[in-house]
Amino acid sequence: MIPQAIIDKIFDVAPIEEVVGEYVTLKRAGANYKGLCPFHDDTNASMSVSPSKGIFKCFSCQQGGNVFQFIMEHEGLSYPLAIKHLAERYNIPIEEGQIDVNELKEEARIKEGVYACLEFARKYFNDRLNNSQDGTVIYRPYLIERGINQQTIDKFSIGLSGTHKSHLLDEALKSGYGAQQLYDAGLVKKINDDGGIIQSNLRDTFIERIVFPIYNVSGKVLGFGGRIIKKDTKAPKYLNSPETVVYEKRKELYGLSVSKNDIRIKDQVFLVEGYMDVVSLNQSGVENVVAASGTAFTEEQARLLKRFTHNITMLFDGDIAGVNASLKHVKTLLAADLNVKVALFPANEDPDSFIQKRGTSEFQAYVIERAQNFIELIVELKMGDNKHDPIKKAETARSIAENIAALPDPLKRAAFISETAILLAIPERILIDEVNKFKQDSRKQKEREQRRDERVQEQQNIPIPIDGPPPGFDYVPDSLEIQMAESLLVDKKNYQEQDLLKTLILYADQEFDEEQNVAQYIFKELEEDEIWPVSAEYAEIFKEAHAYIEEHKVLNELYFIRNPRTSKLAADILSKRHSLSPGWEENFEKIVKTDADNYKHQVVQNLNYLKLNHIEMLMKENQENLKTADTDEDIVIFQNLHANLQEIRKKVTDQIGTVIL
Ligand code: UTP
Ligand code: MN
Repeated sequence: MIPQAIIDKIFDVAPIEEVVGEYVTLKRAGANYKGLCPFHDDTNASMSVSPSKGIFKCFSCQQGGNVFQFIMEHEGLSYPLAIKHLAERYNIPIEEGQIDVNELKEEARIKEGVYACLEFARKYFNDRLNNSQDGTVIYRPYLIERGINQQTIDKFSIGLSGTHKSHLLDEALKSGYGAQQLYDAGLVKKINDDGGIIQSNLRDTFIERIVFPIYNVSGKVLGFGGRIIKKDTKAPKYLNSPETVVYEKRKELYGLSVSKNDIRIKDQVFLVEGYMDVVSLNQSGVENVVAASGTAFTEEQARLLKRFTHNITMLFDGDIAGVNASLKHVKTLLAADLNVKVALFPANEDPDSFIQKRGTSEFQAYVIERAQNFIELIVELKMGDNKHDPIKKAETARSIAENIAALPDPLKRAAFISETAILLAIPERILIDEVNKFKQDSRKQKEREQRRDERVQEQQNIPIPIDGPPPGFDYVPDSLEIQMAESLLVDKKNYQEQDLLKTLILYADQEFDEEQNVAQYIFKELEEDEIWPVSAEYAEIFKEAHAYIEEHKVLNELYFIRNPRTSKLAADILSKRHSLSPGWEENFEKIVKTDADNYKHQVVQNLNYLKLNHIEMLMKENQENLKTADTDEDIVIFQNLHANLQEIRKKVTDQIGTVIL
C-alpha cells in the first residue's frame, strides 16, 4: 500500500490545471479552465478543469476525476502507477516496497518494466556518446561536424548505441533488467526466430548507431531512432524501435515533449520529416517543431497536435518523395480540421541543412514567403507552368476536390470551393458536385470498413454491450425520474445507493438539523435501521466514509474527490453543481436549483428508498419462509411478520409520496 500521506502530498503539490495542462492547452473560463478533451475527438473544448475542486470533467465523453484519474486514463496506467508517475514528476520520494507489486495489474507491470529498461538504455547510450572511446573519437565529432553542439546533445539526450552485438544486453542484464523486459522494450532482438528469449539467442537492436530517444508527450522514453554513420553498408540509414506495449508509432510525434510549450506560445507548429530537422531547428531557436519520423501522418497524431495548436506548417523536401509525403499528410490534417500550410524546400535541402547554411532569420523569412495553402500547393505541383493544359487542369481540380471533401467544416468547404473556382476558372457548381462525389465515396468507404469491423467482431464473438443500466459510477441517473419509477425498486437497488452517495458527496458537511450534519444523519440512519447498501462496492464506500468521519470528525466533498473509488462520480456531480459547462447549465438548471433547495428532503428521500428496498427484501425472504413453514406456530409468526412489514412499508411509501408530490 502506498501511504496516504504520499497521496495527500501529491494532491497538495500537483495542481490539476498544471497536470492536465501538460497535455492539453487550457484557457481560463471564469474560475475554471477549458480545453480540448484528450479522450475523444473533441472540437469545442468540452473539458473543464476546476482548480478549486481539483477535478477535470469532459462534458462530451464524460471522462472525469482527480489528477490520478487523468494520468491513469492518459498514460494507460493503474492507480498505483499513476501515483508513482506524479510522485516522480513532483519529486516526492516513494521508497522501495511502498508500492506493492502485487497491486499492479499484469500489463501495467510489464509496461513499468519496459519503461525502466528504456530509461536505462537512454542513460547508457547517452553516457557512451559522451564518455566512451567510440563516442568521443568518432560519433560525437560526427555530430559536431554536422553542427550539433553539446547543449543540444544534452537537451535531446542523444546517445550512441552499443558497437558490438550485445553491449546493451550485457550491461542491462548485469544491472538487473530481465531478458524478457529488454525484448518487450524492443531493445534486443532474437537471433534465431524459433529460439527462446534467453541471453544466448539475443542481440542488441541498435548497433553502431547514433540514437535519438523518442519521448511521449510527457517525456517518457518510448523507443529510439538510430542513425548509422558508416557509408559502406547496406543497412538502412535510420532504424527505429519496433512497436511495443508502450510505443504505438501512430500516436506519437518526435520532439513534442520538448516543443509543446513553445507550440502553445506561438500557437503554431512546424511539421518536419526527420529527427535531425527537429534537433537542428531547435538548436537554431526554432523550437515549435515536431516530426512524424518516417511514418505516414495519422489521425491520432493530428489529434495530438490539435491539443496545442490548430495551425500547422509542413516543411518538406522539394524532392519527389517529400512532395508526395506532404500531399498525403495534407488530407489527414485537413480532415482533423487543422489549418494547414506547406512550405517546400529547394531540392536536396531539408530544414536542417537549410537553417545550418543560411541561419535562423533567413529560414524564417523563407518559410513565411514559401508557405502555401493546399490549393496553391496542388496547383503548383500538378500544373507547374502548364496553366492552360485542360487535362492537367481537370486532374488538379479533382485532387483539390478530394482534399476539400475531407474538411469537416461546411463553411470552410464553401470558401475553398470559391477560391478554387476562381483560381482555375471552373464553375463552382461543377466543383461542388465533384466534392460531393468524394464525400460520398469516403462515406461508403467508412461504411464498408464499419461492416468489416462488425463482421470481425461477430467472428471473434465479442459480446457487444447491451443497453441497460451501465455499471457502477459511469451512469448518472436523473434522480427524480428514478425515484418515481416504482418498478426500479427491486431490480436496480444500485441506483438508490448511488443516489444516496451522490447526496452524501454534495451535502455531507451541510447542516441537517441543529445536532448533526447530513453525513452524520445518513450514517445514523443507515446504522439504526440496518440499511447499509446491499452491493458490496457501495457498502464499502459508505463504511469507509463512516470510519473516516468518526476518526477525523469532518467529511466533505474533498474526501470523495480524493478517494479513488468515488473521485469519478464526485467529479461528475460536482462539476455539474458548479456548472462548469454552459451547455450543461441549460439542460440541468432546473434540477440543480431544486436539488440545492431541497437537499434535506433529498436525504430523507434517498434513505426512504433504501429502507423500502430492505423491506422488500425482508418480505421476499419471509414469503419464502412462509411457503416452507411446516408448523402452525411458524406460519403464524411469518404471517405476523408479513403484516408488520406491510405496515412499515406503507409508512415509508406514504412518506415518499408526500415528499415527492
Ligand atoms: P531522411 O533520409 O531525409 O534523413 O529521412 P534526415 O532526417 O535528413 O537525416 P540526415 O540529415 O540524413 O541525418 C527522413 C526521416 O525518415 C525516416 C527517419 O525518421 C528520418 O529522420 N527514415 C529515413 C527512416 O525511418 N529510415 C530510413 O532508412 C531513412
Ligand atoms: Mn537531413
